[in-house]
Amino acid sequence: MKKVKIGIIGTGNISHAHMEGYNMLDNVEYCAACDLDKKRVDAFAEKYGFKRTYTDFNEMLKNEELDAVSVCTWNNSHASASIAALKAGCNVLCEKPMAMNAREAEEMVKTSLETGKLLMVGFVRRFGSDTRIVKDFIDNGHLGDIYYAKASYLRRCGNPGGWFSDIKRSGGGSLIDLGVHVIDLVRYLMGRPKAVAVTGVTYSNIGPRAHIKAYPRYKASDYSEYSDVEDMAAAMIRFDNGAVLSVETSFSLNLKEDTGNIELFGTKAGARLEPLEIYSEMDGYLVDITPKVSKEKDWFSAIFKNEIAHFVDCVANGTECLSPAEDGLELMKILDAVYESAKTQREVIIK
Ligand SMILES: NC(=O)c1ccc[n+]([C@@H]2O[C@H](COP(=O)([O-])OP(=O)(O)OC[C@H]3O[C@@H](n4cnc5c(N)ncnc54)[C@H](O)[C@@H]3O)[C@@H](O)[C@H]2O)c1
Repeated sequence: MKKVKIGIIGTGNISHAHMEGYNMLDNVEYCAACDLDKKRVDAFAEKYGFKRTYTDFNEMLKNEELDAVSVCTWNNSHASASIAALKAGCNVLCEKPMAMNAREAEEMVKTSLETGKLLMVGFVRRFGSDTRIVKDFIDNGHLGDIYYAKASYLRRCGNPGGWFSDIKRSGGGSLIDLGVHVIDLVRYLMGRPKAVAVTGVTYSNIGPRAHIKAYPRYKASDYSEYSDVEDMAAAMIRFDNGAVLSVETSFSLNLKEDTGNIELFGTKAGARLEPLEIYSEMDGYLVDITPKVSKEKDWFSAIFKNEIAHFVDCVANGTECLSPAEDGLELMKILDAVYESAKTQREVIIK
């Protein structure tokens, strides 16, 4: 069996979740890893057995012959690292958000088409078991037409600081970091309708809350208290099939507790995820349906394992990608439109 030669660009927190996935597979070979931080990349290589390390991804791509690369850097280098890797003949799994904006994402899609190499976006929640089950129900018509959805990803005191809260490296705050997961998931489950209009707001009234005591905090690898990104964003997204998504995200918000919620409302049934429940009617009675499934011990680790296994399967066997770059581009258009609408205080039409 030919081994898939793996390279990693960016060896911070999330790269370890990618490695949990690669470690499950026996058709991969760990070749090279790269990070701006020499100590971090050397420790990473030692831990997982990568042969060579680099601090410049262009250098790595020039010297190595890789089949597949995970791009796990800050958001501001997703485009440059992915484009360079595609041009060097690699298939790429790029972490979410795909890029800083739709203009960069378009360039990435173009490069993937020109090079004929796969560009997959790390929409990891597409790989959850709830997602698979509810997608089956939707594809088999059990929800009918989904015409409305609600999604939220709210943290009370959850600005990770560091690069996450530095707009030059992240592109934004809770919307681009957390919103990307739930907006994509709803769009994916709805059958990938195209967003046509967006009304959004963003607020930066609270800040990173670094002064809060006696409460565990999210922390970026290179934590700092600086923040110039939004604390909170909310939007109404209208799709070309008439469906609407109402979404809310926050890093800092005066709410009771952190929540994450996805609800889909169809003509035949509704669904709520994590835990998955279906709301419908049967013989004139309202019924709630709970699928019986064995629970993963560690949900976060499980979805990454599924995502990485799928990426390697696409590279090794040409399997059709479940999370293609085109969907990342659509998502970036939505995020751009929310930020634009918040700035102009007007509805933004997406062409
Ligand atoms: N899918 C998810 O659930 C999930 C969760 C967390 C983070 N992420 C995404 O993963 C990415 C990384 O996040 P993280 O939490 O691991 O951050 P991190 O800061 O822990 O790691 C990022 C690493 O990239 C390195 N880096 C930055 N620019 C680089 C460049 N040009 N070349 C080489 N190395 C570079 C940094 O030095 C750092 O070590 C982000 O895009 C984030 O949105 C996804």
